Amino acid sequence: MWLVWLFACTGTEVGESAETGPCADAPVVTYETFGAGFLRENCQSCHAATSPDRKDAPEDVVFDTVDQVWAISDRILARAAIDEPTMPPLGGTTADDRARLEIWLTCADSGT
Ligand code: HEC
Repeated sequence: MWLVWLFACTGTEVGESAETGPCADAPVVTYETFGAGFLRENCQSCHAATSPDRKDAPEDVVFDTVDQVWAISDRILARAAIDEPTMPPLGGTTADDRARLEIWLTCADSGT
C-alpha cells in the first residue's frame, strides 16, 4: 500500500534501474539518517554484541556496524520490513518506519 502511495508520483513504468525504478523518486534514507537509530531502538536490545540479554538471538545476527547490517539486509527486509513483521518478535514498529527500512535497504548504496 505504502509503496503505491510513496511512488505514485514517479510516472514511470515498471523498471528496476535507479533512474527509472521505484527508487528513482524515493527519499534518501541511510544508516546515518535513519538505520542506526531504528536498529538501536527496535533491534539492538537483543541483537547487539554487547546486549546483556540477547533472548537467544543468533550470535551471528548483530547490528553493531553498517556492514553487519548490509551483510544480511535481505533477511532484515524479510523479517522486519513487511506488513506483519516477525522482528522484533513482539512487534512495535510503525508502518512509516517499516517503509523507511525498506527504502533504505532497497534504494541506498550498499554499505551506506
Ligand atoms: C526481543 C529480542 C529481539 C528483538 C528486539 C529483535 N530480535 Fe531479531 N531475533 C531474535 C531471536 C530470538 C531470533 C532467532 C529466532 C528467529 O529467527 O525468530 C532473531 C533472529 C533474527 C534474524 C535472523 C533470522 C532470519 O530470519 O534470518 C534477523 C535477520 C533478525 N532477527 C532481525 C531483527 C531486526 C531487524 C530487528 C529489529 C527491527 C530484530 N531482529 C529485533 C530476537 C530479537
